[in-house]
Amino acid sequence: MALSQLTIESFRNLSQVSLAPSQGINLILGPNGSGKTSLLEAIHLLALGRSFRARNIKHTLQHDENRLRIIALSGDNNTPIGLEYSTSSSSSSPEIRLNHQPVKRLSELAAYLPLQLIPANCHQFFEQGPRYRRQLLDWSLFHVEPKFHLHWQHYRRALQQRNAAIRQHQTENEVSTWNSHLAEHGEAIHQLRQQQLSQLKNNFQRTFPLLCPEFKEAKYELRYRTGWAKNQSLAEALTANTTRDIALGYTRQGAHAADWMFRVNDHNPAESFSRGQQKLFSLALRISQAQLLFEKNARPSILLLDDLSSELDPSHQQTVLNVIAKLPLQTFITSTDLSLKHKIKHLTNTAVFHVEQGEFTTL
Ligand SMILES: Nc1ncnc2c1ncn2[C@@H]1O[C@H](COP(=O)(O)OP(=O)(O)O)[C@@H](O)[C@H]1O
Ligand SMILES: [Mg+2]
Repeated sequence: MALSQLTIESFRNLSQVSLAPSQGINLILGPNGSGKTSLLEAIHLLALGRSFRARNIKHTLQHDENRLRIIALSGDNNTPIGLEYSTSSSSSSPEIRLNHQPVKRLSELAAYLPLQLIPANCHQFFEQGPRYRRQLLDWSLFHVEPKFHLHWQHYRRALQQRNAAIRQHQTENEVSTWNSHLAEHGEAIHQLRQQQLSQLKNNFQRTFPLLCPEFKEAKYELRYRTGWAKNQSLAEALTANTTRDIALGYTRQGAHAADWMFRVNDHNPAESFSRGQQKLFSLALRISQAQLLFEKNARPSILLLDDLSSELDPSHQQTVLNVIAKLPLQTFITSTDLSLKHKIKHLTNTAVFHVEQGEFTTL
């Protein structure tokens, strides 16, 4: 679901921006502090209802302004999506409209506009805890497996209830009443994750060597931890650990404790890859996810790539652009390197924007 027209008002240093993005690659070039990441942030906010830099939307409002607006036309029918936040509104959340109708749940919006962000510090995939990697995996599942969201909602609610029972010092029997519900949905989540990871690995081992040819003959291996003890069902694990959970004060094992990684040539990329290779690894993962989504739903997605040039030499930057150009993806790629525009000259469906102090010009 590509964006064909984008208008931004009073968002960070972007007072008034109006762009006609291409359906393929959009390069956003400009010096430090010009507003490149702010543009990506505005698109992210519109697609997901939240920023990736500010917890509270009020911090993204331009200083000394009282209303921000982000409006886009999307898809083949030019469906409008609009977001507005004003300091005078009683709510701390923005008002969002999809095709003129108020959006009641952010999951509705997220399902409509599948979007992935590769932040400038994309190494956090390796450095951060399992939560980040679970979220990345669950992004795919949310978009390609309709059942996933339901299982996840049930699971989360049961987990909250069980943890509340533990905190309220309820008896072991009372805490255990949540076990079967938790186990049922946790096992379902595990099954879906396992399937998804094996498909993701197939795509990944095809895509990563395109970006990083030195890994063409490499061996790829999935490491997946369910979140509970091996050789036990989740129901067994919960039963066996109820006393310990009560002592700990929370439910330790379950689908909320899962983790995964692709090992390459028997090594964990977190320990053996250079920063540049880690960046290409993250990119290949995101691309693989977008491909899965397209294979299942025939829906193109949006990829925001903040700062292509850092950690990558010119030849790898070129490779990345060539690979991305062939995919069913609308991408917004930022860089401080103005010469990048020469690297997409031979490609079709591209646009180049220059930004300086929040002012965009089309090159
Ligand atoms: N709420 C705000 N109002 C006005 N300007 C802001 C606000 N928040 C950040 N800025 C400024 O916006 C500019 C653009 O930031 P950013 O988009 O991160 O730049 P870059 O092009 O380096 O990615 C910075 O100079 C920053 O100080
Ligand atoms: Mg930036």
